[in-house]
Amino acid sequence: MKVRVLLDLLKIELSKIEPPEYANWEALLIISHFLNLPPLKVYLYKEEFLERDLVEKIWSVLEERKTGKPLPYLLGIVYFFGRPFYIEEGVLIPRAETEILISSFLEFNIREGPILELGTGSGVIGITLLLENPRLKILGVEISSKAIKLTQRNAQFHKVEKRLFLIKGDWFSPLKEGELFSAIISNPPYLSEKEWETLDLSVKNFEPKEALVAGKEGTEYQEELLRKAPLFLKKDGFLFFEMGYNQDQRIEFLLKKYRWNFKFYQDLRGYQRVVVAWKT
Ligand SMILES: C[S@@+](CC[C@H](N)C(=O)[O-])C[C@H]1O[C@@H](n2cnc3c(N)ncnc32)[C@H](O)[C@@H]1O
Repeated sequence: MKVRVLLDLLKIELSKIEPPEYANWEALLIISHFLNLPPLKVYLYKEEFLERDLVEKIWSVLEERKTGKPLPYLLGIVYFFGRPFYIEEGVLIPRAETEILISSFLEFNIREGPILELGTGSGVIGITLLLENPRLKILGVEISSKAIKLTQRNAQFHKVEKRLFLIKGDWFSPLKEGELFSAIISNPPYLSEKEWETLDLSVKNFEPKEALVAGKEGTEYQEELLRKAPLFLKKDGFLFFEMGYNQDQRIEFLLKKYRWNFKFYQDLRGYQRVVVAWKT
């Protein structure tokens, strides 16, 4: 079967479970994975002929995808800020919104470390920052052993493991008093228990709840960041974190309560999704 034909078939099948724009992208990702090509290069091979056993392998991925299992878990790869990262079940799949966290950090032009990242997950935030700025060093704290192992694997893959130090532990608790950072960055769990119940089954059935749910309010980890970050930030240090599309009022209230200066960053739909905060 020709690549072009398979691509069209995949798009049709995937459109049955998701909007057409995602279906197109996922069809490209599946084929690119098996041809070992960057996704957009697939179009250059659209007249190539694929052997039957390869088509069968691709079709079995499609069948599993139709059960609702997210594609990154099936392929073991996810793209973040234009780069590939390993991903596996038990570790949160990085989301496109988190790229806003990276852009806001880069805009603040923080040249020197050390930087603290809380809740590294697959490691995409810290590793991307290390790749964008070869002078940075990052300390990552993460509670899940599986996530720590995956971050190590991704750091080795991107050759930044010498600048990324990882500790297994609970949020700020592994840090010593007086340990100061130029910036703290985090994509914390920020859903409430109630919001978790409303999520799509493809999230609830496959992704780790403890990576997404903060507690009854949803803002518990963000409040902990605002309360404790001053103990670990250098003078003129910055705090960057992600927030839910519906959390702007609550986060603004907390920013004022803990006396931070702040700037919000929006996503493409106009929701405030990232906050950068600093003390004067
Ligand atoms: C929303 S995920 C973000 C993962 C990754 N940074 C990303 O953006 O894709 C939150 C991460 O925080 C971790 N986490 C949850 N509670 C934690 C805690 N008490 N201490 C350290 N890490 C925690 C979770 O295991 C998860 O990896």
